[in-house]
Amino acid sequence: NEIVLTGITTTGTPHLGNYVGAIRPAIAASQRDDTESFFFLADYHALIKCHDPERVQQSRLEIAATWLASGLDPERVTFYRQSDIPEISELNWLLTCVTAKGLMNRAHAYKASVDENVNNGQDPDFGITMGLFCYPVLMAADILAFNAHKVPVGRDQIQHIEMARDIAGRFNHIFREHFVLPEAVVAEDDSAILKGLDGRKMSKSYNNTIPLFDTEKKLKKGINKIVTNLLEPGEPKDPDNSTVFDIYKAFATPEQTAEMRQKFFDGIAWGEAKRELFELINGQLAEPREKYLELMSNPALIEDILQAGAAKARARAKPSIEALREAVGLVKFA
Ligand code: TYM
Repeated sequence: NEIVLTGITTTGTPHLGNYVGAIRPAIAASQRDDTESFFFLADYHALIKCHDPERVQQSRLEIAATWLASGLDPERVTFYRQSDIPEISELNWLLTCVTAKGLMNRAHAYKASVDENVNNGQDPDFGITMGLFCYPVLMAADILAFNAHKVPVGRDQIQHIEMARDIAGRFNHIFREHFVLPEAVVAEDDSAILKGLDGRKMSKSYNNTIPLFDTEKKLKKGINKIVTNLLEPGEPKDPDNSTVFDIYKAFATPEQTAEMRQKFFDGIAWGEAKRELFELINGQLAEPREKYLELMSNPALIEDILQAGAAKARARAKPSIEALREAVGLVKFA
């Protein structure tokens, strides 16, 4: 069986990008009989960017409810919180000790923070914690603790999966083969990097997201805020340069996409295109949204599911960590 694993950082409210880039493909993979799935809440990763305990807690609940409402079946999928699995932290250290600092220097997220500091005339290290710097090692531990083969993610995470491969390879080289080298699974189409309101990648950090399970009214409002150019109704529009079309495509069948493409060429009004986008997305999200609201009002149920998931996950991670401890020379004397 092929092991599929993915996680979402529990900061903020899940958005359409998380859904089409990670949640939807991961759940589709979990329904196949030849796979075994591990999906989790990356709540240790959340602490890197967020030092507000209430927000972390709220986001964990929202993201858990989002996975379940989107069709995750806890009987099929091992579903857990990263922070419930101490084996991940332990592996994090074993990996930290074989990871070159130079590799971490190349991480996009870290480099972006340094660049921002330099542009602002600040010390390059200003505000950069060891958590941010070592982020990819913890992510490698998430993946390698379960020897995942496939990691469904949006395009922004590819570098991290490549680093996990590098780190696994390094460990294997020193201590013999222990780890499978994981591969990122990224959608071929633009859903691997869904655009946000302003046309940049939809991202919590850009504040340009459309939340996944907002009320119908807020979804409509969100869609209306998508920035468009000034072309009038009747003027032909370029579908390949449009956030409205980009998001439409991520939810539509190929036939619907082809029809919408034609409507763009025929000069559909922006208001009309947005209305169609809303109808399409709302049609697909109405049912899970109901389920989401139900789950949000029942945290005890979510807690039970996650506890059971943690027990399953730990049972899997424990023997692997035992073997790794032995490999590096941490065994009992007698
Ligand atoms: P995070 O929480 O930023 O995002 C969760 C998932 O959503 C995808 N995504 C997008 N996909 C398409 N278009 C977008 N605009 C968009 N925005 C976000 C991300 O690519 C990701 O797949 N480091 C990870 C969490 C993590 C993880 C892991 C993932 C921790 N450990 C182990 C996989 C395996 C992160 O911060 O994702």
